[in-house]
Amino acid sequence: MYGLVNHAIQGLLTKEFGEDKWAEIKEKAGVQEEIFVSMQQYDDSITYNLVGAASEVTKVDAADLLEAFGRYWVLFTAEHGYAEMLDMAGGNFVEFVENLNQLHIRVGGMMPGLVPPSFDVERKGDKGMILTYTSKRAGLAPMVIGLIKGLGEKFDEQDLTIELLNTKQEEDNWISEFDVNW
Ligand code: HEM
Repeated sequence: MYGLVNHAIQGLLTKEFGEDKWAEIKEKAGVQEEIFVSMQQYDDSITYNLVGAASEVTKVDAADLLEAFGRYWVLFTAEHGYAEMLDMAGGNFVEFVENLNQLHIRVGGMMPGLVPPSFDVERKGDKGMILTYTSKRAGLAPMVIGLIKGLGEKFDEQDLTIELLNTKQEEDNWISEFDVNW
């Protein structure tokens, strides 16, 4: 993944647990890099190892860390040069979620090696949807839960709930369905 992701993981973990714990996590994950260059690509194993090591060091479940990371990502991208891109993606929650693929296509214009997820929305009345998340990467459904909750906060949808319905693998895609209501 692009360094922007690892940089954000570093940001969240230092904010929540402090610099010393971050140094311990990096050491346990076997990560040599002093800094992550946002526009440079790193092997996905670095990201997974950081999350695994963070879970061991902090004793927080990896799924809970991924969810917290998803929430944090919405704030982090807004503060790291992507505010305008976020603004363009939609003026309300449902419009924004329907534009996530378009948003990642724009991101891919700057990051040509991007391997983005894709999202499909099937609306259920005015305030509900079945959200299908398709990814080349395994295990990131908890991050999507955090991302959607973070977007709910961004758009002031205080009653938002999200539930993972199922996850399956089809060829080299991981596909998860969520029931989202707000
Ligand atoms: C302007 C804001 C955003 C930027 C710059 C951005 C950029 C990125 C980048 C760089 C990656 C790593 C993929 C790679 O390096 O191959 C990624 C992955 C991902 N993004 Fe975004 N993103 C943004 C907003 C969002 C939002 C709002 C969501 C909400 C659902 C989202 C969902 C995801 C997910 C789930 C992944 C995991 C990758 C996977 O499943 O393979 N992103 N994004």
